[in-house]
Amino acid sequence: MAASILLPLCISLLLAFTLTSSVSDVDLVLYKIKPSLQGSQPNIVLLSWNASVPLCQWRGLKWGFSDGSPLNCSSASPSSPLWSNATLYRNPELNLVSLQLPSANLAGVLPREVGEFANLGKLYLAGNSLSGTVPVELGYSSALSDVDLSFNSLQGPLPASIWNLCSGLVSLRLHGNELSGSVPDPVPDSNCGELRFLDLGQNSFAGDFPEFVAGFRNLANLDLGGNSFSGRIPASVAALTLRKLNVSHNNFSGPLPGDFERSGFGPEVFEGNDPTLCGLPLTPCPGRNSGLSSGAIAGLLIGLMTGTVVFFSVLIGYFQRRKRSSSNPNGGDEEEDEEEKELFGETAGEQSDEGKLILFPGGEHLRLEDILNATGQVIEKSNYGTVYKAKLGDGGTIALRLLKEDCCRPRSSFLPAVKQIGKIRHENLIPLKAFYEGKRGEKLLIHDYLPSRTLCDLLHEPMPGKPALNWTRRRKIALGVARGLAHLHGLDPPMAHGNVRSKTILVDDFFRARLNELGLDRITESHVGDELVSISKAEGYKAPELQSMRKCNPRSDVYAYGIVLLEILLGRRPGGGCSRNGKEYADLPALVKGAVLEETTVDVFDGEVVKGVRNPMEDGGLIQALRLAMGCCSPVAAVRPTMEEVVRQLEENRPNNRSDLYSPAETRSGSVTPF
Ligand SMILES: *[C@@H]1O[C@H](CO)[C@@H](O)[C@H](O)[C@H]1NC(C)=O
Ligand SMILES: *[C@@H]1O[C@H](CO)[C@@H](O)[C@H](O)[C@H]1NC(C)=O
Ligand SMILES: *[C@@H]1O[C@H](CO)[C@@H](O)[C@H](O)[C@H]1NC(C)=O
Ligand SMILES: *[C@@H]1O[C@H](CO)[C@@H](O)[C@H](O)[C@H]1NC(C)=O
Ligand SMILES: *[C@@H]1O[C@H](CO)[C@@H](O)[C@H](O)[C@H]1NC(C)=O
Repeated sequence: MAASILLPLCISLLLAFTLTSSVSDVDLVLYKIKPSLQGSQPNIVLLSWNASVPLCQWRGLKWGFSDGSPLNCSSASPSSPLWSNATLYRNPELNLVSLQLPSANLAGVLPREVGEFANLGKLYLAGNSLSGTVPVELGYSSALSDVDLSFNSLQGPLPASIWNLCSGLVSLRLHGNELSGSVPDPVPDSNCGELRFLDLGQNSFAGDFPEFVAGFRNLANLDLGGNSFSGRIPASVAALTLRKLNVSHNNFSGPLPGDFERSGFGPEVFEGNDPTLCGLPLTPCPGRNSGLSSGAIAGLLIGLMTGTVVFFSVLIGYFQRRKRSSSNPNGGDEEEDEEEKELFGETAGEQSDEGKLILFPGGEHLRLEDILNATGQVIEKSNYGTVYKAKLGDGGTIALRLLKEDCCRPRSSFLPAVKQIGKIRHENLIPLKAFYEGKRGEKLLIHDYLPSRTLCDLLHEPMPGKPALNWTRRRKIALGVARGLAHLHGLDPPMAHGNVRSKTILVDDFFRARLNELGLDRITESHVGDELVSISKAEGYKAPELQSMRKCNPRSDVYAYGIVLLEILLGRRPGGGCSRNGKEYADLPALVKGAVLEETTVDVFDGEVVKGVRNPMEDGGLIQALRLAMGCCSPVAAVRPTMEEVVRQLEENRPNNRSDLYSPAETRSGSVTPF
């Protein structure tokens, strides 16, 4: 009896619940969001949000369906069913995915219903005149990844619920409002792992530095400027790899944790705080030794510019003093730990005022004073640095790359990248043996000096005694480069090279190829990286989809590799690369395509390559290699093979006649001058 009465009751409750919770996103926009945002007067932009206007014409909104597919407004003509508002509006599957109305004269308040959109990802309402508070419910909008409410007149505290968004939040911008109070702490363990931009600048926030941001590992831009924060800047903040920071015009005091100048931040980042705020790039804190004169460093730089010199001599005094006070000349991890301490301001005084040498495996024998005493000679200049061949006192030779002053990322991201590069060891990659950083941020990358020539010179520059480059030798070079790249791409996380060109490949007497200049995208600032990209474009190695160095990836390396492989097979310069005598320069993939169409494929190969190969169309894997290169150069990144696949294919294509690989005495001119 009782059960039969209860049952209908349950059902009606259930119905009531589903009915109230199924207000469509369209209705929410129309009846809650619109009236609230427009304030007291009709807003011309919001007039388009009207049931008699087709949904696709509602300004600033993007829609999608529950299955994740977008409402495609471009594909629909006004006569297509998509535009028949009546049915679409009733579709409960239809969700609002972005609300984007910057500078639209919105004068109302942010309604609490913004929290009710299950799929709203982007909320951009910057530059309006919204007043009132940030509603607590904003934090319930579980799909929000990007929020920009900058330059409005929002007041009151920031609700703690905002950190509910943590798991998917990428940017939170509240610049230029009147928000006040302290910034609420997120619940412990909430991980804003995706958050990259946090802009709370130009508000009235007070209280301590929101230290919890140090746990946001991907944070790149942090703006707290123009508030009333006070107290010390916590040490944990120095560990963030920030690209932009602004804490100016607050009331922060005391010593800065670590040397922010080294991380690339200038005094403007800290100006306008309590006068006791100190440490580089502001004035040194009282009681700290001010260290080297800038004159010494200028001397060093001038010395390096002039070529053969003795340099860094002034620094040696400092080094020796340090050796006396510290008994750890071996560098490595211990020294790194010491370094981290310096960074966080835990040790002060003389020790932190000199340059620092980090040694990597195989570089243990290097001593700072030897490096600084070496005599150098310029062997190469590039847009991000100059390479010197330097003779050490003990007769050894090293290659020093002095990085240009403004070329590098802030120290906080540069140093981890260098340490990572320092660990890479592969027989086809030039190892980084050590890294030196002077007190003023001068940076030297230290490699072994290898008496090799670049692949570019080897292929294209006439020189006496140059070895004949038959297919066996060329294949060995190509395979070496491929293996080196495959190793980089196979690292965890994968590393792209970013600058694969015949000029960055060194080839030794035994035709072993080694790639130079690893990981440039991780250490250089974007303007430097982008210059390299435009160079590689001019030289014909740039993948069509690659617009900036930051976007370089294994697939764009594969493209560049494909061009190098064509260069090896055809013996011609892509895009005028190596020298300015542009006669041999060509669009290599187009050349091959043309030859295939005209059935003159065999003729595209360099004469030396086909010499000794009985039938190039069948023998020796030449055609396979050509096909492989063309696959690598596909304009569509997704269809290019991986480097691992390239290695596999090249390994399978063994030439029949392997003996001529091992006769380095064989030269083009027939003379026996060693290479
Ligand atoms: C919607 O537009 C129609 C005609 O353009 C207009 O008459 C009506 O008042 C509008 N409705 C709202 C709620 O603005
Ligand atoms: C749907 O939109 C059309 C314009 O394409 C309009 O003429 C019609 O009145 C709208 N229907 C409803 C029910 O609002
Ligand atoms: C929308 O439809 C057009 C034509 O059907 C199509 O070309 C376009 O890729 C679609 N856009 C999206 C985002 O699906
Ligand atoms: C830092 O913030 C202050 C206050 O908001 C502002 O005046 C200044 O221009 C900002 N500096 C930079 C470099 O963005
Ligand atoms: C700044 O902080 C100091 C304490 O460090 C305090 O005495 C002073 O009143 C503060 N100034 C402002 C403007 O808040």
